[in-house]
Amino acid sequence: MANVGIFELKKEGNIGVVTINVPGQPMNTWTEDAISAFLSLLDDLENASDLKGVVFISGKTGNFHAGADLNMLNKMTGKEDTAKGLDIFHSAFKRLEALGFPTMAAIEGHCLGGGMEFALACTARIAKDSRLTQIGLPECSLGIFPGAGGTQRLPRLIGMAAIEPILRGTILPAVEAQKIGIIDRLVTEHEDLSAEAKKFLEEIISGKQVIERPAHDFTPIDAVAEMARQGVLKTTRGRVIPGPMLAIKSMQDGLKVSLAEGLEIEKNNFVEAVLSNQAKGSIHTFFLKTMSDKPRSLMSKGFQPTPIKKVAILGFGTMGRGIAIDVLRGTQIPVVVKDVAQALEPGKAFVKKILDGMAQKNKLKAPVDDLMNRLIVTSEYGDEFKDVNLVIEAVFEDIKIKEQVYGEICKTVSDTCIIATNTSSIPMDSMAAFVTGPERFAGLHFFSPVWMMQLVEIVRGAKTSQETVDNLLNFVDNIRKRPVICRDNPGFVVNAVLFPYFLSAMEFLEAGNTIEEIDKAFVQFGMPVGPIRLTDEVGIDVCFNVLKGRGLRQDTLRNLVEAGRLGLKKSGKGFFLADGTVDPDVLSLIPRKAEQKATDEEMQSKVLTHMITVGKDLLDRSIVDDPRMIDLGMIWGTGFPADRGGPLKWGDLTGLSKELFGKTFYGA
Ligand code: NAI
Repeated sequence: MANVGIFELKKEGNIGVVTINVPGQPMNTWTEDAISAFLSLLDDLENASDLKGVVFISGKTGNFHAGADLNMLNKMTGKEDTAKGLDIFHSAFKRLEALGFPTMAAIEGHCLGGGMEFALACTARIAKDSRLTQIGLPECSLGIFPGAGGTQRLPRLIGMAAIEPILRGTILPAVEAQKIGIIDRLVTEHEDLSAEAKKFLEEIISGKQVIERPAHDFTPIDAVAEMARQGVLKTTRGRVIPGPMLAIKSMQDGLKVSLAEGLEIEKNNFVEAVLSNQAKGSIHTFFLKTMSDKPRSLMSKGFQPTPIKKVAILGFGTMGRGIAIDVLRGTQIPVVVKDVAQALEPGKAFVKKILDGMAQKNKLKAPVDDLMNRLIVTSEYGDEFKDVNLVIEAVFEDIKIKEQVYGEICKTVSDTCIIATNTSSIPMDSMAAFVTGPERFAGLHFFSPVWMMQLVEIVRGAKTSQETVDNLLNFVDNIRKRPVICRDNPGFVVNAVLFPYFLSAMEFLEAGNTIEEIDKAFVQFGMPVGPIRLTDEVGIDVCFNVLKGRGLRQDTLRNLVEAGRLGLKKSGKGFFLADGTVDPDVLSLIPRKAEQKATDEEMQSKVLTHMITVGKDLLDRSIVDDPRMIDLGMIWGTGFPADRGGPLKWGDLTGLSKELFGKTFYGA
């Protein structure tokens, strides 16, 4: 039987010690086997007339219980089945509460979600005050909410103070969890958790320690719930995301009635939340995050990366500075930057200013001076380059200059040094021709501001070796970025899929929608910035040139560029005034092509259709091998709403992918 040993009961006199150990997994989770093992354990405990109390402890270091298996949640499709699945948890935890003897959760490491809900159904909780202990109900951050009793038992335990951490998905260290009443006793890192848990349990059994739970007054719950609702809507900028909203509803309605009735209310709301598209989108994003948290895991199996000894950055402009900041703060690697002499001191001052800001916010592991000591700036190709084994080129976007720079750098560094370009638009293969040994040449496309954007695109040219890609994945892991791996393509992945955002916005504008309407439609969809404001920020000339480069004529953009309106930041004039409102002078520059105003939904659907059509084309042409690369890129590269799981996942969830292409991107 697969579940044998998952909950292993050993009797020590009148005390039962249950060790939790889900086999073959780094963490204990509620897999199907684990649930059935727990039910058999309950049968045993209910029949164990010799027991006076039970301690639950994990057999895994650093993990008490991490809660539900998200894959299982993701598979839930029908209301009835989901409700039935939840009933199993509810009835199991009710049986645990009703055992007739005290139970103790002995916590070290993660105690999260359904794992914490299990601990909440125990009589008391003891936790180790260690760096590894993390306690909380993070479900709302995954678009769902704690549905195995969390919204009912936690407020009944600690009062209305439970509402905020539930809605925020706050994860607490043991000390903080004790302060608010979740944990009854702490043990130090060096104490024996198992022995202390048994001692505590015996004190409870003997009556030496009485666990008193204050009765909380929930009469103001309606007003508090309303405030909580407004708070959530503020963080989502008015968007209703089912998980947190239904969590509030569960607490508002459930805390007015008995626990049993409250659990029933929670269950019905949870079914609605977990079956929502946003829950599925959020869980998808969680998996994308997990995949990209460790870029090294995407390297070829068994690959041993060459450690990066020194990085050279060519060009100390906007991007070169940003890349230097990231390497200095994230690694111990020395950085040599080359640019013209007059660019060096301003560049250094900029890097220091940003690092100082990070230090003030306690975001650096070492003093700024130590980091700055690793930065060498030069206007010559001197000895500093001798031990460089990764070059990142970020000079002007001009192929002639790039040609000259590659000629020089290839003469300077060793034949095995990896050479990466941060180009945003020059075809990789045209530059590979300038590099001796083009298999060591690849794109490493950062986003601006580099130190704030988590994404980087690793671009394979036709001749780039897998070894180069793997070594770059290792480097990206060092600087803690999330990688999209792709082949060369105009706009690579992110800008190619984002391109419809700009283009369609101009079409809506010319068809009669106002600037405000268009931006609002996409902010409501969940994009951080509307397309017209983004155009203004990126540079109206930049967007115009991108379209022109693709043979597309865009009259509104051309009119603005010709009028010297390159964007508010760039030329002091664009679509908007400094106070954020639309500049009325811009209206006469927008040609009206057809009076065909679109609704918010029509605009959103048109852009999504266009985005996923581009996405499909990228997959069809093998620019990416995996749809996850597109969704990952759009979420971390453009702020595409995480609860929608990326454009391709959202296309699947809403039925658009099937409608357009007869199939989904992710199967099923
Ligand atoms: P920038 O104009 O801010 O900086 C370019 C720097 O290169 C200047 O400091 C210039 O003095 C230096 N430079 C020119 N010739 C050089 C040479 N022969 N040797 C050493 N340094 C030289 O440009 P930016 O924005 O930093 O762009 C650099 C590259 O990054 C371009 O290929 C661009 O397409 C790409 N990129 C830019 C992004 C952005 O948002 N600015 C985003 C992603 C990529």
